[in-house]
Amino acid sequence: MTTPGALVIFGATGDLAQRMLFPSLYYLDHDGLLPDDFRIIGAARHKATNDAFRDDVRAWVKERAGDRDISEKTWDRFASRIAYFSGDATKPDSYEELKALIGDPPGGSIFYLSTAPFLYKPIVEGLASRDMTGAPNRIILEKPIGRSRATCEEINEAIGAHFDEERIFRIDHYLGKETVQNLIALRFANALFEPLWDRQSIEYVQISVAETLGVDGRFSYYDEYGASRDMVQNHLLQLLSMIAMEPPSDLQAESMRSEKVKVLRSLRPIQSHDLPRLTVRGQYAAGEIDGETVVGYTQEEDGKHSNTETYVALCAHIDNWRWAGVPFYLRTGKRMPKRASQIIIKFRDVPHSIFPDSQLDANKLVIRLQPEEAVSLEIMNKTPTLTTGDYELQPLWLNLSLDEAFKSRPRRRIAYERLLLEAINNNSALFVRRDEAEAAWQWIDRILEGWAKLDMTPDLYKAGSWGPPGGDKIFQQPQHKWFE
Ligand code: BG6
Repeated sequence: MTTPGALVIFGATGDLAQRMLFPSLYYLDHDGLLPDDFRIIGAARHKATNDAFRDDVRAWVKERAGDRDISEKTWDRFASRIAYFSGDATKPDSYEELKALIGDPPGGSIFYLSTAPFLYKPIVEGLASRDMTGAPNRIILEKPIGRSRATCEEINEAIGAHFDEERIFRIDHYLGKETVQNLIALRFANALFEPLWDRQSIEYVQISVAETLGVDGRFSYYDEYGASRDMVQNHLLQLLSMIAMEPPSDLQAESMRSEKVKVLRSLRPIQSHDLPRLTVRGQYAAGEIDGETVVGYTQEEDGKHSNTETYVALCAHIDNWRWAGVPFYLRTGKRMPKRASQIIIKFRDVPHSIFPDSQLDANKLVIRLQPEEAVSLEIMNKTPTLTTGDYELQPLWLNLSLDEAFKSRPRRRIAYERLLLEAINNNSALFVRRDEAEAAWQWIDRILEGWAKLDMTPDLYKAGSWGPPGGDKIFQQPQHKWFE
């Protein structure tokens, strides 16, 4: 496929475009990674001139760059690529004008849908009505794709009627993170882990994504979704499937995604009667983050009553040969005490201890995804002493800081940079396939339906705490716990 000639961003004045998409494109341009003559068209409803829109984009890029200067040379080149299109996505005439603006680039265009999901169908139909959906045109869909399996299917059907699956790029920005990709390297480029990567050696797995942020001005979106739909259905289940998948035959998109979807399909549905012991729903109340007082979730928007969860913890099981009986504890929450995303693999105890007077900690592999990027392994060691008889033992860490190891290597600043580049280069490996998105929804739907049936409303937790009291009930054994 030839290189696409244009990227059209629908929802070009929205939060995502401002904070992620335009800054990412600027950085790609800065590093010479955008194709020559590649145009960027921001499409949104309100009226603005090209120049006024470029000024907005410059302000967004500057905001993201913080203290760093933006390069005038890059800016001039970048600005010359940008045009603004004002139109109503639901009006067919808009697409005639859009088509005239894009022209007919030989490599086609990429349409990035960063709007509310209810606009996906009208946009695709509008594009189709003016013959803009055939190959080599591509489409990128921002999450959330639907609010349930049924609504996700509806969107997939509507898009699939005009774009073949290999031209649809569903975003989960966690797949663009360096450390998330490193999971594949860690698992499949080292002989050390694979023989231990199963129910024989692993007691449990923990995936925790904690944020200090609240809803950050996105109340109306968030209140419709909550942590299960906003984080678990996509980011956490993607992490789980990468940890649990079988070795793929190669790194091709279809090989990787076929292995991930098998894991998602093997997730044991959580029955309603098990929800009270296998899941926790929480919602943050007022509290303190980094010494600053913050309001509770329902005060974020004029004290509107809400049963939306901002915290969820659950115990998942994967019913297959490798993982039978191994709990996967998933947890995510807003307004937690610190920003920390990590995966912990807790190995089993030694089968028999010859150190009667010492407590042996089972080995633990910790993969820190953010804010710092690191891999650590906790192992038992002898403490240097002159005592005779029993050993004095102590757990110590083997630490690998990826930030330190690669400090001379340029790191991509935003996960979206990589994803945009991959879409431009037509590589789908870091995007979610239709069956993956639908399988993940199916598992989440069952939980959401059960919560509604049991009227399981969220328990309050103080902002700046690790979730509602009693959240440890999901642990299958008394010695299991969250590592913070
Ligand atoms: C987004 C969610 O997908 O991921 C947000 O919609 C969340 O609610 C964000 O804050 C977290 O992403 P990151 O990269 O900061 O961990």
